[in-house]
Amino acid sequence: MTFEYAPALESRTIVTIKPKYGHFINGAFVSGKKHFPTINPTTEEILSHLSLGSASDIDKAVAAAQKAYTRTWSKLSGKERGKYLYRIARILQERAREFAVLETLDNGKPIRETRDIDIPLVAAHFFYHAGWADKLDYAGLGHSPQPYGVAGQIIPWNFPLLMLAWKVAPALATGNTVVLKPAETTSLTALLFAEVCQQAELPGGVVNIVTGDGSTGATLVNHPGVHKIAFTGSTEVGKKIARAIAATDKKATLELGGKGANIVFDDAPVDEAVEGIVNGIFFNQGHVCCAGSRLILQESIAEEIIEKLKVRMAKIRVGDPLDKNTDLGAINSREQLTKIQELAAIGDAEGAQRWSPQCNLSDKGYWFAPTIFTGVTQAHRIAQEEIFGPVLSVITFRTPQEGIDKANNTPFGLSAGIWSEKGSRTLWASQQLRAGVIWANTFNKFDPTSPFGGYKESGWGREGGKHGLAAYLKTGKESGGK
Ligand code: NAI
Ligand code: MG
Repeated sequence: MTFEYAPALESRTIVTIKPKYGHFINGAFVSGKKHFPTINPTTEEILSHLSLGSASDIDKAVAAAQKAYTRTWSKLSGKERGKYLYRIARILQERAREFAVLETLDNGKPIRETRDIDIPLVAAHFFYHAGWADKLDYAGLGHSPQPYGVAGQIIPWNFPLLMLAWKVAPALATGNTVVLKPAETTSLTALLFAEVCQQAELPGGVVNIVTGDGSTGATLVNHPGVHKIAFTGSTEVGKKIARAIAATDKKATLELGGKGANIVFDDAPVDEAVEGIVNGIFFNQGHVCCAGSRLILQESIAEEIIEKLKVRMAKIRVGDPLDKNTDLGAINSREQLTKIQELAAIGDAEGAQRWSPQCNLSDKGYWFAPTIFTGVTQAHRIAQEEIFGPVLSVITFRTPQEGIDKANNTPFGLSAGIWSEKGSRTLWASQQLRAGVIWANTFNKFDPTSPFGGYKESGWGREGGKHGLAAYLKTGKESGGK
């Protein structure tokens, strides 16, 4: 029996989007010279025009951050800094619905995810780090660890406000000031966050937000007034940043790409594993650096799992992300859609078998049906490259050791999932896997107390938890990275 769903659209009236935005520098919005449009990927409607940050805008923002650091922020006690962070966290909770709707409009991700995952985690990050601000002496990083000064932070479009929180909350808790560059397609929630900073009466210059593209980001990275870089995005840009700062004394954390293995052993709880596979790759349209984009199945149960997975995938609702029943929303941009289409076509050409459920996709906006490829070998590009979309590559193995070897056969090392009823097998497998985050009988679970980061080409350093604090403090034990 199939049920007809009534539309249950979240109202847009809670958000006010201005026709044009400036940068947020020294506590105030200042207009840029050039502007570019930001659109709603669900409808291709232009939502607003953003300022394209120039070298002079970055100069002003870094100068404001430097001044705020020396005159205000570094003079405050940890307890006082904590009060601001608590205030920001509470305002974010109060305005959660506004942020959730705006994020969904600008990014295309389902309201169920922005409302229940992104925004609650954003508030949790500020609360968690507010608690640390006056306890840094007890973080195991030595006596009185010192901030670097100005942190230059560059974030991607897949979790716009959450990545801002991952960057801004620890920086402020540890006493650094910030110049943040949001992604060009998803800056609106960062600009709303700037309003929250004003509402919280955060001293001017402690947080500065300059919108723009890759050139704006590169200018920020190269600015001599920036002492620490925090970047999340593609491995390609991560490498460029590493090269740019190699001959400087700038510190950096880099959170880059992934090709996470979701390994299902023959003793796994099958129905739970199927849910975990779906969550691993179709959460957030697969625009997730730690997505379980390679399904590594023990051969004896492969057929059963794939059959059940197809039945489950046919129930995924693809469509308007403001509809509370929607599971899979819009692809964030035309560029990203093209990249997914191209890699999927390469999968076809290399001889893997593509399957998607029947979906009615709108002509307007950017859409890609949930897709699996079976018959994938390790040599296939869809087994090696990050697709960053709702596309799963299925690989099989016979012995547990072969499963681990296949999981580790990647230039990345960000995440992995293990599905097994046996604790001893789970512990054994987790010790063999070269991945920064490993989930057992679950996937894509996040918490501010838990450090996150990768091995190999997935990046440098950790964010979150005590490890994440170390990345913003001078005498802190190095958490890896530069
Ligand atoms: P990207 O790495 O180009 O963009 C991320 C951020 O870096 C944006 O704010 C961008 O403006 C900035 N940026 C670009 N070039 C820069 C430079 N030279 N110096 C400093 N900042 C720079 O990612 P893009 O092009 O949006 O996506 C391409 C692919 O990257 C995706 O298909 C996906 O595979 C991967 N990606 C991975 C992410 C992750 O969370 N690990 C997030 C976003 C993309
Ligand atoms: Mg947008």
